[in-house]
Amino acid sequence: MTNDIESILVSEQQIDEITTRIANEINSFYKNSEKKLVFICILKGSLMFSCELMKKITLPIEIDFMKVSSYGAKTVSSGVINIHLDIKRDDMADVDFIIIEDIVDSGKTLSHLVRYLAERGANSVKTCTLLDKPSRRTVDFTPDWCGMEIPDKFVVGFGLDYNEKYRNLPYVGVLKPEVYSK
Ligand code: IMP
Ligand code: MG
Repeated sequence: MTNDIESILVSEQQIDEITTRIANEINSFYKNSEKKLVFICILKGSLMFSCELMKKITLPIEIDFMKVSSYGAKTVSSGVINIHLDIKRDDMADVDFIIIEDIVDSGKTLSHLVRYLAERGANSVKTCTLLDKPSRRTVDFTPDWCGMEIPDKFVVGFGLDYNEKYRNLPYVGVLKPEVYSK
């Protein structure tokens, strides 16, 4: 598996620093909020990032899950966002949501989900991503918290996959192009 990785882009130590920084920011941002704080972990890619971040949140917090897709077995977005798993809540107006994503590419997934949760009556909706490829944006979208901006390379590891593989790497690495052009 590591033979398919061209270079390490975000090391385990950098991931630890990123999650500490963002968790501290979230802890101070919501410290006086009277609403429920809920992470929405976007399956499957943000599983590891959500866990590491959540361990460093010192406020009361809940977690919920959504599964969306825009990709399939390709490395470019199809632009169509399908919701495969949705949240079921009757307390939307009492919730401050933070959507946790692995990576922002075109921006379509997160801009769509922010609008969707707002329309369902959320008290507030913010977004947090481990990685961002700003050069790939096709819609006007900026995440509220971002671990690291990266160049336009296809990356895997720490939850991110190519064809469901590589999610278990403890770091984020650049996938060798020959792996996905085969
Ligand atoms: P967007 O809607 O175009 O912003 O797409 C975001 C989604 O695309 C992410 O949740 C990932 O599932 C996927 N994605 C984008 N770039 C990469 C990458 O470099 N590696 C793995 N998945 C990626
Ligand atoms: Mg994803």
